[in-house]
Amino acid sequence: MCGIVGTAAKRPIAKILIDGLKQLEYRGYDSAGIALIDAEGNIDRYRVAGKVRALEEITIPRQLPHQVGIAHTRWATHGAPAEHNAHPFVSNNTLALVHNGIIENYLQLREQLLNKGYVFVSETDTEVAAHLIHAYLQESHDLLTAIRSATSVLEGAYAFCILDTHHPEHIYAIRKGSPLVIGRGNDENFLASDPLALLNVAQDFIYLEDGDIVDITANTITIHDHMQQPTDRAVHRFTMQAEATERGEHRHYMKKEIVEQPTAITACLKNRITENDILPALFGEQIDAVFPKVRHVTLIACGTSYHAASVARYWIESLTKIPCIVEIASEFRYRDVAPTQNSLFIALSQSGETADTLAALRMAKHMGYLSTLAICNVPGSSLAREAKGHCLTHAGIEIGVASTKAFSTQLITLLLLALTLRRHQNIPNDLLIADCVLQLQRCPSFIQALLQQDNQIIALAQSFTNKSHAIFMGRGMLYPIALEGALKMKEISYIHAEGYPAGELKHGPLALVDHAMPIISLVPHDALFDKNLSNIQEVRARGGQLIVLTDRVDQFQQIAFSDIAIIPVPTIHPLLTPILYTIPLQLLAYHVAVLKGTDVDQPRNLAKSVTVE
Ligand code: M6R
Repeated sequence: MCGIVGTAAKRPIAKILIDGLKQLEYRGYDSAGIALIDAEGNIDRYRVAGKVRALEEITIPRQLPHQVGIAHTRWATHGAPAEHNAHPFVSNNTLALVHNGIIENYLQLREQLLNKGYVFVSETDTEVAAHLIHAYLQESHDLLTAIRSATSVLEGAYAFCILDTHHPEHIYAIRKGSPLVIGRGNDENFLASDPLALLNVAQDFIYLEDGDIVDITANTITIHDHMQQPTDRAVHRFTMQAEATERGEHRHYMKKEIVEQPTAITACLKNRITENDILPALFGEQIDAVFPKVRHVTLIACGTSYHAASVARYWIESLTKIPCIVEIASEFRYRDVAPTQNSLFIALSQSGETADTLAALRMAKHMGYLSTLAICNVPGSSLAREAKGHCLTHAGIEIGVASTKAFSTQLITLLLLALTLRRHQNIPNDLLIADCVLQLQRCPSFIQALLQQDNQIIALAQSFTNKSHAIFMGRGMLYPIALEGALKMKEISYIHAEGYPAGELKHGPLALVDHAMPIISLVPHDALFDKNLSNIQEVRARGGQLIVLTDRVDQFQQIAFSDIAIIPVPTIHPLLTPILYTIPLQLLAYHVAVLKGTDVDQPRNLAKSVTVE
């Protein structure tokens, strides 16, 4: 969380920094700030509580001439989202610093610094880092040495960008655990948490490794690794156009991303399947080589990605009979995991930067797994770089905090993975793979048809605006989709929603059901259809307000369903139902949030990329 931008150029750079921050607002949007330094070493700082727009309003009209500066958009961890807690922090009129990450031992360091006479004006962990570097600078009189000394006592995760009044043409930076990338321009260089921030000004990017310390000016880039050795890092060309991040005709990014799903799924399938088969080496040659040895799969993720992984468990076990466990990354990383023989470890993440998922992957690399595979959407992300193999979901840039097209493309990729594992089992006369591949190709047009139901879903959404609670229920591989529907609803509409396996309702949650409780039930015509119907009747008997997603509307006509709202879903192979049933739930959450007037793309208290634990 938190977004950082730094620029050293030979032209005024305030707008570059503000534009960069706007692109990084998905990382946090509680407060924002900018520090600019002039040729004489004077620091000019502006900070606001709230969004980058407010910072833009107080800086851009001033036509600030500075050519070097750093900027920050914050997701509050320590201290309220207020101006005095906003970055950059300035220590003794000498250093200005922005930070992404968390300093875990900040209280102890703060105490030491208070004893040395440092004055604190915020409640943040970051201010400690600024003063600590300043304290070491008093001893070494060399900023790089001071940064090294200070970071050697810091515990936690950080990416820092630092201005020094004695070296006004330079920006210094260091990272450990939090992402930081250098953007290379012509006569100008940049730093940012994510290349997205710099697409208008740079095409060549250098991803920094943990412990790298960097010194940039408009013309120079110097990198030292964690052993203090000068080092060169690979340069990646990023050809994505800045327009890819525009909202177009849509009122919200989330809506744009929902309607982009047919295209995103087509991109995800491209070059991966033939008309009736999957192509070899989809997951890279290294992973392909271990597939025949896989006897167990471990899937790790957070949030929406965890729900996609949970669907994959049904697919893997049903298509291959290979046992699979799915675990939330923040739990996996802190328990004593019993090692499983011949297990393939898979980390799943849209951003590829989620702190817990990354930590779980790093742990797994030392635990004797057959191999590690990252499935993520962002090319060049830490997860993609650190796993042995990686596979991109190709959803395209996702900006709305609520994950939509990233989720459906994760599902597609995971189904391809389950089918690939099955293919390695060489089952004689196996028709299932061809059948699934054929059906996968129909998904974009089925989703297009579902998107046409927008107006009916808007009408349904009206009945939610005065609700405080909702229950989503499903069985089998639709249970994780119920969880996902509930997560979408709570994160953007702030309605408390829970997802349950339909069979579990009578073990407790049924007590909540009365005429005021909306219950959204996912009922594909699969082997569990009749079981679902019974659960629906139980809810109905208690007056629950039912909304049913099904491909068998006719069956509901038989039970005189006038009290049930139906959302028809096209019939597809039972294995692919999770992909289609997701779409109406995304639209429902979206329209409820719009009607309630919440900040759909940047819901309160959240950030898109959760880079702190
Ligand atoms: O980038 P990741 O997929 O690792 O992110 C994991 C979660 O933070 C994310 O899915 C979150 O739950 C979304 N806001 C849900 O819409």
